[in-house]
Amino acid sequence: MELAGSRVLVVGATGVLGGLTACALAERGAQVALAGRNPVRLAALARDLGAPPARSFEACDLDQCTSLATWAARMLSGLDGVLVTVGAMGFGAVEDVSNAAAEHLLTVNALCPMAVLRGAAPVVADKGFLLAVTGTPPEQSHIEGTADYTASKAALSGWLGVLSEELAPRSVSVLDFRVPHLDTGCADRPLIGRPPALPPGADALKTALSLVEGIASA
Ligand SMILES: NC(=O)c1ccc[n+]([C@@H]2O[C@H](COP(=O)([O-])OP(=O)(O)OC[C@H]3O[C@@H](n4cnc5c(N)ncnc54)[C@H](OP(=O)(O)O)[C@@H]3O)[C@@H](O)[C@H]2O)c1
Repeated sequence: MELAGSRVLVVGATGVLGGLTACALAERGAQVALAGRNPVRLAALARDLGAPPARSFEACDLDQCTSLATWAARMLSGLDGVLVTVGAMGFGAVEDVSNAAAEHLLTVNALCPMAVLRGAAPVVADKGFLLAVTGTPPEQSHIEGTADYTASKAALSGWLGVLSEELAPRSVSVLDFRVPHLDTGCADRPLIGRPPALPPGADALKTALSLVEGIASA
């Protein structure tokens, strides 16, 4: 897809990967709308990018997530793509994770991106794209203490696969962007538990650039 002049909503723009991706998209000439939780980082990013539309949201408010695409389409006079980089890690042996913590993790990692893209599906232009960041394939992710996190990303991945079939008649590309462990520090701010010793993460800027390349070639 041609990025120059395209209108793209970035949900999770206050995170490391989301912020880098929003900047890379803007550098390629896309008009972006930003959605993020942290109001200070959201305002700083909007300032850096020349004051595009920006809105705060909370992942656990699913109706708010669903309304983001309609808002962005209004602000940008149309919408060619949506990408969701919201996510959080969670650690703990299955028996140690409370149902409330598991529900929170599943909501942030799966239900929130699904709610955003549910709202975006009828709004995005034909031949546009919808993207969410998942993780390494589940078969490579059987790290002890990550069962609920792994389940949340696998759920999102399966959902995206079906959405892709549903939107194929309109030539909307549904992209499941699977990233490995990154150097964003995400694992050091888990929703629950403590991270195990992890190897150094892959370069987030390179990952953001390859994400944007993936959209450009979709
Ligand atoms: N880093 C890794 O090793 C790794 C590996 C596999 C997959 N991923 C995935 O890659 C994506 C980007 O992660 P990252 O590494 O850039 O981490 P990050 O910097 O921590 O970004 C995570 C984003 O999720 C947002 N978020 C978390 N909880 C939220 C909530 N309750 N409401 C609204 N927003 C919420 C954060 O908002 P705030 O900015 O307000 O905190 C932030 O924008 C995520 O989907 C993550 O799961 C990362």
